[in-house]
Amino acid sequence: MIKTLSKHIKGYVRDSVITPLFMILEVIMETIVPFVMSSMIDDGINKGDMNHILLTGSIMALCAVLGLFGGTMGGIFGARASAGFAKNLRQAMFENIQSFAFANIDKYSTAGLVTRMTTDVTNLQNAYQMLLRICFRAPVSLICAMTMTFIINAKLASVYLIAIIFLGIILAFLITKTYKYFNKVFEKYDELNASVQENVTSIRVVKAFVREEHEIKKFDKAAYNLYKLFVKAENAMVSVSPIMMLTVYGSIIAVSWLGANMIVGSELTTGELTSMLTYCMNILMSLMMLAFIFVMLTMSLASARRVAGVLNEKSILTNPQNPDYNVENGSIDFENVYFSYNKTAEKPVLSDINLSIKSGETIGIIGGTGSSKTSLVNLIGRLYDVNEGCVKVGGKDVRSYDLETLRNEVAVVLQNNVLFSGTILDNMRWGNENATDEECINACKLAFADDFIQSFPEKYNTKIEQGGTNVSGGQKQRLCIARALLKKPKILILDDSTSAVDTSTDAKIRKAFRDEIPNTTKIIISQRISSVENADRIVVMDDGIINAVGTHDELVKSCDIYNEIYSAQTSGSGDFDQKGEL
Ligand SMILES: Nc1ncnc2c1ncn2[C@@H]1O[C@H](COP(=O)(O)OP(=O)(O)OP(=O)(O)O)[C@@H](O)[C@H]1O
Ligand SMILES: [Mg+2]
Repeated sequence: MIKTLSKHIKGYVRDSVITPLFMILEVIMETIVPFVMSSMIDDGINKGDMNHILLTGSIMALCAVLGLFGGTMGGIFGARASAGFAKNLRQAMFENIQSFAFANIDKYSTAGLVTRMTTDVTNLQNAYQMLLRICFRAPVSLICAMTMTFIINAKLASVYLIAIIFLGIILAFLITKTYKYFNKVFEKYDELNASVQENVTSIRVVKAFVREEHEIKKFDKAAYNLYKLFVKAENAMVSVSPIMMLTVYGSIIAVSWLGANMIVGSELTTGELTSMLTYCMNILMSLMMLAFIFVMLTMSLASARRVAGVLNEKSILTNPQNPDYNVENGSIDFENVYFSYNKTAEKPVLSDINLSIKSGETIGIIGGTGSSKTSLVNLIGRLYDVNEGCVKVGGKDVRSYDLETLRNEVAVVLQNNVLFSGTILDNMRWGNENATDEECINACKLAFADDFIQSFPEKYNTKIEQGGTNVSGGQKQRLCIARALLKKPKILILDDSTSAVDTSTDAKIRKAFRDEIPNTTKIIISQRISSVENADRIVVMDDGIINAVGTHDELVKSCDIYNEIYSAQTSGSGDFDQKGEL
């Protein structure tokens, strides 16, 4: 985990090394000051030596300036190093998430990924800054100050030693207690983010179902849980403060009393006692800082684990050793394919699939919801890998192709497709970034999107809102089809992509496909018989297996499931669907 994270300091190694050096400079200066002060009191003030006072005063001023310089520079470089580290982490995570296969994405929740990229990385950034600044500063300060006190007076120094041991034990006890709470805090953050994320992205659905009350309650609960844990953790933390103060003042009183006795017995000078008292503060403050950084680091361990988890997550689908960059044609073969999303599942989602599709053929797929239609076509573009058997495109196993090449040739209009914020042209160019305006317009004409785009005041420069909320469902589907067409793929898969388009436009789109892109293999998944009845062949899916394959006429005669759907849709029993015109 540390190895994974430390790789991302790259580019900020210099800042990371310089920061502790400046911090150490600050500590050394801080340690020198009380020592010089003791000499100023004993040899300057007490003896009335003005020159000595001036000399020691100048040294002290110089030390203070140098200390300030060290502290400031340490702060600047520390901030740069930690902000750079966070930037690298976020970039690396984002890049890795982009490479995730669908199966990897299924593993993490969106909310979980968002928390990891925001809160967790911020925690690591703070922890890293602390590490660079305080982790070096505190032990060095502790050691320097302790050494100086022992040099000045070993007997008095032992009072500090006892105080350190006492405080150390108490702090260790509190740290273990707070760590437990802070660890839970981050789990609760996930819950909170899940609530925010889900709600804000689906605010329209929430409103449509009048679920605001319920969602507000859910959010309040998540926020309250977080509050409770924070209060508990902070309560444990604040109890450190009085104990610390008690120890500091106890030590000061003990040292003052013992010191005063020693001064009377001429074993100690006034200057020495003054510097001893200053060191007292240094020692106990650094101990406190150490405890604090310890809590901070253990707290960020949970974040570190979560961030490293995403960074180390390898895409399940990888390019083969010597990938094939050429997809010969649009033929598709399923050979004894078995597939399940969860490898340990009892029943596979797809069983014993054997299907051969010729290049340029139009295939309709029909079947009840959950009958694995989407799962079947997802295997063609290698969005998931099969468990058994193989899927071939252009006569070769999909696993032998370069992923990008394969996916450029297999365009899928997903069932739940989205548009991104930007103009219509921007969205089109997701399909092909080098497409000219002409090509974009042609694709839109083919998908029968040109008509309604022309009716917008800004035509192709109309801005699409995030998620495509300012176009209708059917318009959105047609834009998504046009976007896929721009790829000029060898295989075009429409997963229920015209469900919101009226039947006559749907028919026109299919006719345009047949006339304009005859060599592209077209797979049309639909719940509507009218959308598939003119396909060369229709595949009837039922609960993960192929129930029947054939033309419309054949299936009407021989396939019960198909016949059932057909008669339900043609009997006019409350369905607005008309029979297709083509
Ligand atoms: N990402 C996933 N992780 C786990 N299980 C899934 C996933 N996607 C689908 N399933 C399961 O696989 C089965 C087949 O789902 P699939 O989406 O292929 O059906 P479908 O025929 O496309 O249905 P619909 O017509 O409603 O789109 C269902 O039982 C579903 O619960
Ligand atoms: Mg589906």
